[in-house]
Amino acid sequence: MKVAVMCFSPTGTTRRVCLEIAQGISDSDPTVLDLTLPDGRTVFMGDPERLVADYDHVVVGVPVYGGKIPPLARDVLSLVKGHGRPATAVAVYGNRDFGVALRRLCQMLESNGFQVVSAGAFIGEHSYSAVVPVALNRPDAADLDNARLFGSQSARASGVLAVDDVEEQLDMFSKSPNIAALKPRYLAASCTQCGSCSEVCPIGIIASGSGAYASSELRKRCIGCMACVRTCPSNARRNEANLMERLMLGMVLKKPSRERLEPKVFMPA
Ligand SMILES: Cc1cc2nc3c(=O)[nH]c(=O)nc-3n(C[C@H](O)[C@H](O)[C@H](O)COP(=O)(O)O)c2cc1C
Ligand code: SF4
Ligand code: SF4
Repeated sequence: MKVAVMCFSPTGTTRRVCLEIAQGISDSDPTVLDLTLPDGRTVFMGDPERLVADYDHVVVGVPVYGGKIPPLARDVLSLVKGHGRPATAVAVYGNRDFGVALRRLCQMLESNGFQVVSAGAFIGEHSYSAVVPVALNRPDAADLDNARLFGSQSARASGVLAVDDVEEQLDMFSKSPNIAALKPRYLAASCTQCGSCSEVCPIGIIASGSGAYASSELRKRCIGCMACVRTCPSNARRNEANLMERLMLGMVLKKPSRERLEPKVFMPA
């Protein structure tokens, strides 16, 4: 069976969960269509109508931002046609809530011609865990066991998922069209100009060979994904939230930092 993983995953948790689900669907290695970086999007989006036409099952994964699908991921995925292929929708979130992201992903896949056979919300270390530690080191071994089991159940699923049965967690974040994001600071004095951060930025707004934003105008486009911060070996790109941001995050992430949530999966009745 030919399985494809199509994902957007700046800090890698969504990709890890999706790969494990794919291994549960079939033992053979999946093809990874990673839409995170500009280069990947250029390569894979040359012919979005045919991108997944040759696969038997497609695992589609996004992280949850403000209870929603990150707009960049949504815009790219909305171009991919399903040709009746079975799809498993996956939302990975930072132990707070998954808002409307999973249901919206299912709806989008369905309207693009996929047969959505299963959907799952899994937990990954929160992108802002350097400010408030939430879901550290997740997905962990138990999460990955769950993901693999979910994959094998998805391969055997009979029928199509009723998309309206996929849970929505409505709150002020998922209802708002905006996404509150922290934009990392850059400390030129600590930067060794190794260039790693510019290679992992999904938006391509860090000057290559340096750690600086290419321009103050481009800085406005930062989605706060923390890929550059996680990859910087010199702590020159860092998440230095100001007092107000710390207070806000402390409030919003207080409960998620104390209570471990478990994956939730949705299968046809
Ligand atoms: C801008 C932004 C908004 C986020 N909003 C949420 C949220 O609403 N609920 C939640 O539980 N986690 C939220 N997270 C955390 C991510 O969903 C989580 O860390 C996820 O594992 C990141 O996926 P990735 O490793 O594939 O990039 C947010 C992260 C960012 C950067
Ligand atoms: S500059 Fe912004 S968008 Fe680019 S990797 Fe860093 S946090 Fe993500
Ligand atoms: S990863 Fe860090 S040290 Fe390397 S260029 Fe970027 S900011 Fe500078």
